[in-house]
Amino acid sequence: MPKHKTSIAILGCGDVGSTLAYTLILNPICSEVLLVDPKTELLEAQVRDLGDATFRGNTGCKVRAGTHKEAGQADIVVITAGAKQKIGESRLSLLSRNLHILESIFSSMAPINPHTILLLVANPVDILTYFARILSGLPESQVIGTGTSLDSARLRGILAHKAEVAPNSIDAYVLGEHGDSQFIAWSTISIGTAPLALAIPASSEPGFKEDIATHTRGAAAAIIAAKGCTAYGIGNIAASLCKFILFDQRTVRPVSFYQPQLKCCLSLPAVIGRQGIIRAMPVVLDENEQRELERCAEGLRGIIAGAEQEMRADEVLAKALEADDLLGDETVSRTAEVDSEI
Ligand SMILES: NC(=O)c1ccc[n+]([C@@H]2O[C@H](COP(=O)([O-])OP(=O)(O)OC[C@H]3O[C@@H](n4cnc5c(N)ncnc54)[C@H](O)[C@@H]3O)[C@@H](O)[C@H]2O)c1
Repeated sequence: MPKHKTSIAILGCGDVGSTLAYTLILNPICSEVLLVDPKTELLEAQVRDLGDATFRGNTGCKVRAGTHKEAGQADIVVITAGAKQKIGESRLSLLSRNLHILESIFSSMAPINPHTILLLVANPVDILTYFARILSGLPESQVIGTGTSLDSARLRGILAHKAEVAPNSIDAYVLGEHGDSQFIAWSTISIGTAPLALAIPASSEPGFKEDIATHTRGAAAAIIAAKGCTAYGIGNIAASLCKFILFDQRTVRPVSFYQPQLKCCLSLPAVIGRQGIIRAMPVVLDENEQRELERCAEGLRGIIAGAEQEMRADEVLAKALEADDLLGDETVSRTAEVDSEI
């Protein structure tokens, strides 16, 4: 049967999920946005409020509430479900809670459409992308994390201001972890046709690069401290990644995906299109940047190993509880037998 609808499912309709849905309605790229959230009152309210934004006539995009099972059949499943950072909290401290949510999401979505593209937004995004790829059973190219695409957009914004050009005339990448070990690939930056030093002579002054790196790394924490979440930047970034995918746009962006040599998911530039990661884009890093990349991967591998250990311990505990239950049932039935004999 020909397919008439393109659908994007958003799991989690809190601050980020609802902002993404709103962005998809205003810049329609799909015929249906499906929202899923266990907070049913919030879900219904978001669907009604967002629905009101679809009646202005400029969008054919419909919004509705759905189940995890339905979401598993969408063209793109965006995962924003999970706890968010509190003021001063690191992204990594969310891992245990959000990994459990991720596991429950995949068991509720099964069997997932084998052509679905997964876009991970929830934090810590690199680690969740790594586990989503295992839990979903989808090919690696179909599992993408937003990674450092937001950090890179922030970097382009800062450089654009300094160079007095539009951000889209700048090629600049924050790579590695969407977190504290991220780094800027300074050696690869170009502004129009010019290298950084030529376009912004002040870039060779002491402190220039450190100040920008500190700002890019800490931007989210500063916004969260003031308003409790970041939503517009990531909503926009996630919507444009959905567009690159559905329109097979082949745009190059730094996103988190599995790196076989580094044995973890982290952000490097990739060509993004209808099948997800079409291919990794080669990037030539200088010696320092290469070291930063390896340090970053080592840190992520350590966190993955810790999480795997926790998952194994959870499994052992679940089996022990199950055995206890069975033992309990057996004792009850034997007691009943003895009772009846008496
Ligand atoms: N990658 C990035 O650049 C980036 C940027 C901003 C926020 N984030 C992350 O996105 C996540 C969401 O942030 P937020 O501000 O929207 O949080 P939020 O608390 O406002 O919303 C999260 C929603 O997920 C829902 N949820 C929980 N379990 C679910 C399940 N099993 N299925 C469906 N929905 C479920 C919750 O009920 C809640 O409504 C956080 O982890 C945050 O750190 C990532």
